[in-house]
Amino acid sequence: MQIIKEMSDLGPALDRWRSAGQSIALVPTMGALHAGHMALVDAARDRADRVVASIFVNPLQFGANEDLGRYPRQEDEDAVLLEAGGCDLLWLPTAVQLYPPGFSTTVSVGGVSERWDGEARPGHFAGVATVVAKLLTAIRPDIALFGEKDFQQLAVIRRMTADLGLGVGIEGVATVRDSDGLALSSRNRYLSAEERVRALALPRALEKARKAIEGGRPVAAALDDARRSLADSGFHRIDYVALVDAATLEPLDSATGEMRLIAAATIGATRLIDNMRVVWA
Ligand code: PAJ
Repeated sequence: MQIIKEMSDLGPALDRWRSAGQSIALVPTMGALHAGHMALVDAARDRADRVVASIFVNPLQFGANEDLGRYPRQEDEDAVLLEAGGCDLLWLPTAVQLYPPGFSTTVSVGGVSERWDGEARPGHFAGVATVVAKLLTAIRPDIALFGEKDFQQLAVIRRMTADLGLGVGIEGVATVRDSDGLALSSRNRYLSAEERVRALALPRALEKARKAIEGGRPVAAALDDARRSLADSGFHRIDYVALVDAATLEPLDSATGEMRLIAAATIGATRLIDNMRVVWA
């Protein structure tokens, strides 16, 4: 696996593959890699000839009171994992390369980015869309892969890529969970042992609400039950628990079409998100 830090070194590496007619997949990450990230690398390897991963802890997508300063950084371990996972090239851009002095462009996506995490984390999706636009333009992959774990982020990136005509196929990959059901996240390491146990209430509440809605329970009642069980388990701030249209992220008050249950809540100092597909037979 080749490791590249300078943007100017990307061209020769990528051109060699392109001129040999090989397809390229990009897996953008912020590092601290776990099996969820590696599922994206596996899917990338299945779908393209060459796999490029990037690690960049993007300051633009962190709010002033968020965890930018303490976000885990472990590039050497990440590189070992990526190489073992069959990644061909790891790009480690620096902030000055991506955001040189005078940088003043923001990619802001309307509609899908306005509610939920858009409301709870002002500026977050503009930061994500801006950096992903830069990564896609620098690498120009055939496809780029993103996790369904960050369901709204995936929708925002699909919208942005279509709207800007970037010509990259965006592929979603199913959420990877620990054996007890908690979705893997780089932020799970912030949880104390006790919080880690309580955090299970999040996937459990969503799973219960999913089954209830699929069984015909009124949506508002199922969502209330989920909020109550989160609060009872020690989630002291619940940003949202909602049933939404899977494409537009608009809230639904009854079950119809392609749906997703989405939730964000904080336990101790750690904000967790999760989501599940709901199928209305
Ligand atoms: P990061 O949180 O590092 O996640 C990188 C990718 O891994 C995202 O597409 C995310 O959805 C996916 N991922 C994380 N946990 C997962 C899990 N348990 N199962 C499946 N996929 C999972 O998301 C970001 O970084 C950033 O916002 C980024 C897109 C890189 C832009 O800075």
